[in-house]
Amino acid sequence: MTSTPAARTPAARPSPVPAGSGVFLREFVRDPLRTASCLPSSHALAVAATAPVPETGDPVVVELGPGTGAFTDVIARRLGGRGHHLAVELNPRLAALLHRSHPGLDVAVADATDLPALLAARGLGAADVVVSGLPWAAYPPGGTPLTAVIAGAMGPGSAFTQFGYACTRWTVPARRLRARLGEAFEEVVVGRTVLANVPPAFVLTARRPRPRGRG
Ligand SMILES: C[S@@+](CC[C@H](N)C(=O)[O-])C[C@H]1O[C@@H](n2cnc3c(N)ncnc32)[C@H](O)[C@@H]1O
Repeated sequence: MTSTPAARTPAARPSPVPAGSGVFLREFVRDPLRTASCLPSSHALAVAATAPVPETGDPVVVELGPGTGAFTDVIARRLGGRGHHLAVELNPRLAALLHRSHPGLDVAVADATDLPALLAARGLGAADVVVSGLPWAAYPPGGTPLTAVIAGAMGPGSAFTQFGYACTRWTVPARRLRARLGEAFEEVVVGRTVLANVPPAFVLTARRPRPRGRG
């Protein structure tokens, strides 16, 4: 039996690397601390990180550090045009790329710490879901914790997710972030390790933001 030429072409095989990998690698070389990874997240991790995005209603969904859009596509598909999807990306080259690849998306070239002002400028009120792809470096030890800023911009029934690489789980910045989340939210759940991601990663899900200053 002979196989057809189409079955043997490289295009028929699924790509082993996520879309946007070349751009990501270039930005990682430019700024390794802020980019924090040389590969975009996998679809499996995107599904885990975006699980709190509701399938009904008109939620305000914020994405922090969208990069090349690994989570953006999954969020957009879940929303199906409902609500408001705001992507906050510090790197102007990645933001421009995201704007081109997702014409209907609200992309802000800004720091995650600007979240309250970005929501206010759009008349959006509190966020229902915040999905973060931010690196540990975005959560520095001093000053007002970014976790408190984010929690302060979220509604009572909202959810926040942040992924981390399993190999960094016990590092000082990761443990500090876990503690800060506990101060800013009543509940923090550590998800199972997503082995299909390169490198394996996990998702922290925080719910019920505490009123500012009570933590
Ligand atoms: C590890 S990448 C994650 C990208 C994407 N979410 C993914 O999972 O493939 C981190 C992203 O956060 C962005 N970033 C870093 N610090 C930021 C900050 N303070 N505010 C907004 N974006 C930031 C980086 O430019 C980069 O796109």
